[in-house]
Amino acid sequence: MASKYYVEGTKRASKVEDLFAAVAPRYDLINDIQSLGMHRLWKRQLVEAARPAPGDVALDLCCGTGDVAFALADRGAVVTGIDFSAAMLDVARRRPGRPSVTFVQGDAMALPVADASADVVTVAYGLRNVADIPRALAEWRRVLRPGGRLVVLEFGKPPGRAWRWFYFQYLQWVVPVFGRLFCGDADTHGYILESLLRYPGQRGIDEQLRALGFHDTHVVDLMGGAMSLNIATR
Ligand SMILES: C[S@@+](CC[C@H](N)C(=O)[O-])C[C@H]1O[C@@H](n2cnc3c(N)ncnc32)[C@H](O)[C@@H]1O
Repeated sequence: MASKYYVEGTKRASKVEDLFAAVAPRYDLINDIQSLGMHRLWKRQLVEAARPAPGDVALDLCCGTGDVAFALADRGAVVTGIDFSAAMLDVARRRPGRPSVTFVQGDAMALPVADASADVVTVAYGLRNVADIPRALAEWRRVLRPGGRLVVLEFGKPPGRAWRWFYFQYLQWVVPVFGRLFCGDADTHGYILESLLRYPGQRGIDEQLRALGFHDTHVVDLMGGAMSLNIATR
C-alpha cells in the first residue's frame, strides 16, 4: 500500500508538492469520479458552515483548483486562495475568475498574512497533507480575528467499524485505480488512505483545536463520518 508520495520528516512537503504537480491537470475530473460528484455537496456544506457575510475577509488555504475560494466569493466574501502548488494554482487561475478572488502561492504553515486579519478561514482536503498539523492549526488561529471561524473539510475516520472497514477497502483498492487510469500512477491516489491512516481523524482534530484555545468547536460527520467538517471559533 505504501505510496511514494507519503514520507515522514523533512521531505513530507516536497513529496506532497510532487503529488499535486502530477495530479493537477486531472484533479477536478478525478474528484468528480471518485466521489460521484459528492465533493461538490460537501464543499457547499463547508461554505454554509463558514457563513461568510458580504465583505468578509476569507482565506481559503490549500485552495488547489479554487472550488471553495470561488464559492466563498459567490457569497460576497473577499477571498485569498493560498496554495504552495504552482500547478494547482495554474488550473485555478485558468478558471472563469471572480473580481474578489486572488490566488497566492504560499505555505499554509507560514502564511503571508497579518495577525487577526481574517473573518473566515476554510481548508478543504488540505489539513491531512500538511507536514505539521498542530503548527498549521496554530498558524490558522493566528490569522483569524477573535470571533472568526475556521472550517476544515477532510476525509474522515468513520466511527462505525463496519462502515469504516468498507470505506477503507474502497480507498485501498478502488481509488488507486483512478490514479493509474488518469495519472498513470496508482500511488497518487494510494496516498489518500495512507495519509488518512496517519491523520488524527475529525475527533483528534477537535481535541487539538480545543487545546489551542479555539472555542465552540464541533465535528460534523458527513456520510457516516467518511467525510468530516471540523468547525471552530477563534
Ligand atoms: C487535495 S488538494 C485540495 C484542493 C482544494 N482545496 C479542493 O478541495 O479541491 C490539497 C491541496 O493542498 C495543497 N497543500 C498541501 N500542503 C500545503 C501547504 N503546506 N501549504 C499550501 N498548500 C498546501 C496542495 O498543493 C493541494 O493543492
